[in-house]
Amino acid sequence: MNTMTSSTNSKTHRGEVYQRATEILELNDRGHYTVPTHGLYPFQWNWDSCLVAIGQQQLDESRAWTELNTLFDHQWDDGMVPHIIFHEHDDGYFPGPNVWGTGRRVPTTGITQPAVAGFAAALLYERATDKSLASNQARALLTRIDRWHEWFYRCRDPQNTGLVAVIHPWETGRDNSVDWDKALAAVPTADLQPYQRRDLEHADASHRPTMAQYDGYISLVQHFRSLAWNNEVLHDASPFQMVDPGFNAILIRSCSDIATLATQLGEMDIASRNRERAAAGLLAMESLWSDSHQQYVCFDRVAGQLVDSSSVAGLLATFADIPEQRMQKLALRIETLAASANYLVPSHDLADERYDGTRYWRGPVWLIINYMIANGLKRGGYDAIVESIEKDSLKLIDESGFAEYYDPMTGEPCGGSTFTWTAAMVMEFIKKPG
Ligand code: DGY
Repeated sequence: MNTMTSSTNSKTHRGEVYQRATEILELNDRGHYTVPTHGLYPFQWNWDSCLVAIGQQQLDESRAWTELNTLFDHQWDDGMVPHIIFHEHDDGYFPGPNVWGTGRRVPTTGITQPAVAGFAAALLYERATDKSLASNQARALLTRIDRWHEWFYRCRDPQNTGLVAVIHPWETGRDNSVDWDKALAAVPTADLQPYQRRDLEHADASHRPTMAQYDGYISLVQHFRSLAWNNEVLHDASPFQMVDPGFNAILIRSCSDIATLATQLGEMDIASRNRERAAAGLLAMESLWSDSHQQYVCFDRVAGQLVDSSSVAGLLATFADIPEQRMQKLALRIETLAASANYLVPSHDLADERYDGTRYWRGPVWLIINYMIANGLKRGGYDAIVESIEKDSLKLIDESGFAEYYDPMTGEPCGGSTFTWTAAMVMEFIKKPG
């Protein structure tokens, strides 16, 4: 084959894919925030917004800062940044503002989501071409992000272990992971009020969590609501307290990235507080290492034991500065997964009988996870695996479009379509073609 023609074609093709990704960002842009996808998720989601801002920066730097600012405009007084901001009324989503009952002027949920904001803000600053805009924006966000981190360690690590717990599976974003099977089944559901799911009107039921899992999710929401969303008591009062290695790795990375950013901006107190949080977190991560799984696993704080489940949360630890020998082991795990799956990185081990290739977080590939794992491995110098992850990600887009997630064997697109953060990650993998 004429290499000249093939490389020109592939350049044109990449340009087309990139163009399509930018169209999806525009389609889902609501002016000062972006929805994950029309229909299934019609509001602003916390970690979606932060990851989307990274792609947005390639198109419009100022718009990217707005995405983060809008999110932090809804930060609670105690420092918590909620997982959904219900900017507009929309009956198509359950559970809506009335179910949460958090009493906010612009309604929000009462739980949080992975702390990607620190990583995103530091990256926007580092890559900014408009440095004066970036300094102003980053300086203002820094204080708010630091308050969020402070909230995490105060309210979700009351015993000062160095690691925070989530009190609802939705906080991790990995709603129906195998990691929660035992703990979610143990959540009391006797007082559950009747409810009607809306997600199945927008997505295939076989791609979504089960009814029993929803009973657990909604029971937890009703329990926390009965405690008036008081974060001083929620952690200890929750029947679900899970220490997730991926969730903690993201928080640790954000602490360390905003420590660097704060140093650059001369905010030395913020820098040292966050450096200390990251150091304590990294030391404590070792308690989540499982020799039998050869990766990090979750720790169930209620049961007082590690969870017997090899999910992608353990691999996401690559996103933080974990020790080199752990990074090597995780790289090996990903190579093993590559031998059993057609597309990296499955959200659950295919060798586990609980794996399900199309059901949300029980097996499917998610491009945001691929991006964060690849980002971490790149810092560690694992270029060959990074290349495989990026190649598989773009192959999925070519074959199946910009879906929410994909079956790691067949590549089948699952969940919602024209998905914003999938598009943003594609823009990051490709970068603006010249
Ligand atoms: C949902 O509604 O499916 C979300 O994952 C909650 O954030």
